[in-house]
Amino acid sequence: MTFTTAFAERTVATKALFERAKVTIPGGAGSTARLPRNGWKPYPLFMAEGQGSRLRDVDGNEYIDYLLGLGPMILGHRHPQVTQAVTDAVAELGTCFGLPYELEIEAAEKVVAAVPGIDQVRFTNSGSEAVGTAVRLARATTGRRLIVRFEGHYHGWQDTVYWSNHVDPELAGPIDHPRPVAMGGGVPAELQDTLVVLNWNDPESFIALMETRGHEVAAVLTEPAVFNTGCILPEPGYLELLREQTRKHGALLIFDEVITGFRFARGGAQEWFGVTADLVTYAKGIGGGFPVAAIGGTNEAMRLIADGTYSHSGTYNANVVQCAAVSATMDVLAEPGLYERQRALGNRLARGLEGIATAKGIDAYVEGIGTVFQLWFADRPIRNWRDAAAHAREDIFTRWYEEMIVRGVLFHPLQFENLFVSLVHTDEDIDATLNAAEDALSVVAREF
Ligand SMILES: Cc1ncc(COP(=O)(O)O)c(C=O)c1O
Repeated sequence: MTFTTAFAERTVATKALFERAKVTIPGGAGSTARLPRNGWKPYPLFMAEGQGSRLRDVDGNEYIDYLLGLGPMILGHRHPQVTQAVTDAVAELGTCFGLPYELEIEAAEKVVAAVPGIDQVRFTNSGSEAVGTAVRLARATTGRRLIVRFEGHYHGWQDTVYWSNHVDPELAGPIDHPRPVAMGGGVPAELQDTLVVLNWNDPESFIALMETRGHEVAAVLTEPAVFNTGCILPEPGYLELLREQTRKHGALLIFDEVITGFRFARGGAQEWFGVTADLVTYAKGIGGGFPVAAIGGTNEAMRLIADGTYSHSGTYNANVVQCAAVSATMDVLAEPGLYERQRALGNRLARGLEGIATAKGIDAYVEGIGTVFQLWFADRPIRNWRDAAAHAREDIFTRWYEEMIVRGVLFHPLQFENLFVSLVHTDEDIDATLNAAEDALSVVAREF
């Protein structure tokens, strides 16, 4: 049976909801990332409920969930402690005051205690907002306008940073001097002059840029490990180089930890790699699945927010749902041994998948850090976006996804996303996933 037939048979109720949704919701889903053109073919699954590491769709199919809501559900679905804390806070306090309150301080204190390198934190609503704030704050602080960023990284949808993510190499030009390319219509072309886009994991091009234009650079903005191009880890010394050069030239270093924050270590990438930034953005994970984001920084980097001369505003910033969720999530994450256990579990899955693929003669390898990784279908290591665009086999990944989804394992259908293992996945989940993978990769091996 073809995938299309098998999927159609399993998703009758989903299909009906998709048709209904398209009438009143543009495209039939609340984010463009959920549409068929972004991998969810032939149509996105409609979910009924989630519990722990599992999801159930409206047709009653159950999935082991490695999508985790695109990342935020680090504690799985409906974590009892966090859910209770949020419902209690709403019942006892309300939702939004437009003024500060004590639970907000408690949430901030716990985040600052959990993460190295930051002294202060402001809560906001989405990763895009947090990054937008960090970029403007860096410009305000330094009086400079140039932002350095890297191909293949994603920093949200705001005009200032919605550039050169999964860019067509033909449009971007030579890799030693790529052009910034806006990722969609409506982004003012003039902003091109406010950006320098570089190849990541490439010390020479970074040093050359800083030597010639370092005095113009307000900030260097980077994912500390690139999870928006599958998974690409920094080569030894690379993050240290970004740190050293930004200090030398009076620019700020911004780590966009929207994915990496609280993911594989409580202190995120700053703890894991031992390099700290001036400003750090968090979102997925910080609220255990509730909608909250944050910008953190050193006292010095947050100075203009603290004295009120930089306006970081937002009606819903630090509302009760957010602060209750953050506070409870920080408590859950403090459990001794939690990250070690789950990283080991994730590694078992990652190595298991790699082993099965290799045994079947498929060119594939895994890159990641325990609780987040990607299975790259490629015959060579992927070090940056250009490698990914040239050598990753998206066609093989699609077939792998298709053969897994019909076996009850959910992850993002695109090669340039990744698999998330929550802090509540179990050994049984991993065993069941590896069993499914054995069959799915046999099909893949036969076809390619
Ligand atoms: C690294 C990174 N930064 C920023 C964002 C934007 O966050 P949000 O979707 O919450 O606006 C994302 C979202 O995927 C991300 O992965």
